[in-house]
Amino acid sequence: MIEQTLSIIKPDGVKRNLIGKITGRFEQEGLHIAAMKMKWLSTKEAEGFYAVHKNRPFFRELVDFMTSGPVILTVLEGENAIGRNRDIMGATDPAKAQPGSIRREFARSIGENTVHGSDSPETARQEVAYFFSEIERVNQHL
Ligand code: CMP
Repeated sequence: MIEQTLSIIKPDGVKRNLIGKITGRFEQEGLHIAAMKMKWLSTKEAEGFYAVHKNRPFFRELVDFMTSGPVILTVLEGENAIGRNRDIMGATDPAKAQPGSIRREFARSIGENTVHGSDSPETARQEVAYFFSEIERVNQHL
């Protein structure tokens, strides 16, 4: 099934000049870019995005990190895009991520883990809609 999913290159990835390498990886794997923008998230925007984690002990640290610099927001599109993006990223903890995955290669810690990706069809719908309106998204498979 053709899906769309949200990918974020986090502030550590942007600061370390990894936008091209990471985006190139998605393209190499056959995922298409349906929308893309750079944004410096406000505290409210980051808190809203990560609202499901609001009672976790790392929530404040997560919001502080995600607002520490600009991020790249991308809508990836393709066959099974949600699962494929998660495989390309690797596990949340870079120490547990598969060799060759983005997090294994680039991430420094579980907190500064370089990329985010939606984890299910429901969250993908919510997360894409949080940052992009319908007309900002190109459907390359129509
Ligand atoms: P992400 O996929 O963006 O979703 C939630 C984020 O919380 C996660 O990646 C991690 O970067 C961050 N985080 C920070 N500390 C932890 C932790 N101890 N366990 C899980 N996630 C954490």
